Amino acid sequence: MSDALSNLLTKHHDESRQGEALEMDMPVVVAPGSKTFYIESYGCQMNFSDSEIVASILFDSGYSLTDDFSQADLIFLNTCSVRQKAEETIRKRLTEFNKLKSIKPDVLVGLLGCMAERLKKNLLEEEKIVDIVVGPDGYRTLPKLISEAESGQKAVNVILSREETYADIMPVRLDKSGVTAFISIMRGCDNMCTFCVVPFTRGRERSRDPHSIIQEAKDLYAKGYREVTLLGQNVDSYKWKNETGEIKMNFAQLLEEVASVHPMLRVRFSTSHPKDITDDVLYTMAKHNNICKYIHLPVQSGSSTVLKRMNRTYDREWYLNRVEAIKRIIPGCGISSDIISGFCGETEEEHQDTLSLMKIVKYDMSYMFYYSERSGTLAARKFEDDVPLEVKKARLQEIIYLQNDLSLESNEADVNKEHIVLIEKPSKRNKDEYCGRNDQNKMVVFPIKDYKAGDYVKVLVDKVTGATLIGTIIEKVEEL
Ligand code: SAH
Ligand code: SF4
Ligand code: F3S
Repeated sequence: MSDALSNLLTKHHDESRQGEALEMDMPVVVAPGSKTFYIESYGCQMNFSDSEIVASILFDSGYSLTDDFSQADLIFLNTCSVRQKAEETIRKRLTEFNKLKSIKPDVLVGLLGCMAERLKKNLLEEEKIVDIVVGPDGYRTLPKLISEAESGQKAVNVILSREETYADIMPVRLDKSGVTAFISIMRGCDNMCTFCVVPFTRGRERSRDPHSIIQEAKDLYAKGYREVTLLGQNVDSYKWKNETGEIKMNFAQLLEEVASVHPMLRVRFSTSHPKDITDDVLYTMAKHNNICKYIHLPVQSGSSTVLKRMNRTYDREWYLNRVEAIKRIIPGCGISSDIISGFCGETEEEHQDTLSLMKIVKYDMSYMFYYSERSGTLAARKFEDDVPLEVKKARLQEIIYLQNDLSLESNEADVNKEHIVLIEKPSKRNKDEYCGRNDQNKMVVFPIKDYKAGDYVKVLVDKVTGATLIGTIIEKVEEL
């Protein structure tokens, strides 16, 4: 694919909660005479990153991207299975495409990603509209599967791989800003958290060749990108081994390498697992100004007995010890979490432990969910989903209220302070304003003045809400 084409093909994305559609703002890129595809991504950042690989594979096969599904020959949904609601969203979306298919019967609909992997060919029975079903490790076969579907057969590839990392595929960047990008550093997950469907939908953990990761970061910097986020379900267990199985690079070392690509390239990463995050990673973060001082460290529950049932393999004390290490080694580091209310057998006392842990850690932000049983998981097989829905929801509400207070408190402490912000894109609410993130991953909004996306600027914050810092630019920053 030509550079000109890849530059044209940029799309805007807002980080969203897993299971919701990632907002896209796709430009229409149609080469004369070629068939067009449309793609929507749901779920986590990994899925979004995978859609960029899918786009690259389809481009190389001569397809063009469109942002208008009614004009597309192929419609792809990159799906999520993490909670029941995520799958319901996809099914609703399919009914909308069904209407289109009744007037345009030749259009092909493909389901990609985790729901495709979980439901396999049953999906074809359940959703008649679907022509192609491809799991996360099968994207290289998409061109072949599309030809099969074009000849009238239903096409399926849900084989999981132990090796596939798509290391050699240069993703087509779908983020319109051209400032921030995701780099997948590993795939799959070897942890067996009892509530979680991900190990079943994404297979075994495997790490990507570090040379290809570093090269991708260099290319992005050269193209004007100023921030990369290294992605994996459990980045701390990244390891690159040589032929004899000796570990040649761990996550702390990879982080060091990526941070050394350029001092003006910001580096973020997600997700860290409390059992695996090492002091080495924390010292590496402290050492490099361009590694953002922010860690997403999902706790799931503040109760050691619930954590045991969840098979998270750490307890409350271990988690608090890791938080203490973060605060000691990286003072001022932002910390966020994922929290589940109403897991199997959760008592009121165990729920109170979650609230008390949140107060100790003082999270800057959290993604919060009530437990949703997923068939096939260890929890579904071993435990009864016995917390009534109203109780799960009431506990979740308490968690959300507390987090809102903590987020506001954390943001209020940022007032009258200067923050280094990487300008990303126009703010949604006011076109004259732009937004970007500070080191701690907080969204900052400000009038743009003469600056532009991709500039680092010092912003003096004078107002806050629970979700945003608001301020004015003081000056451009030439060195982080
Ligand atoms: N690998 C990441 C999380 C991936 S899934 C980690 O280990 O932290 C993202 C989040 O979805 C999880 O952290 C968890 O909070 C939530 N989640 C996963 N399965 C869930 C379920 N069955 N019900 C409710 N929330 C769930
Ligand atoms: Fe799921 Fe646990 Fe793996 Fe995260 S670490 S993806 S929660 S099994
Ligand atoms: Fe969803 Fe799959 Fe990500 S289940 S959260 S899209 S790994």
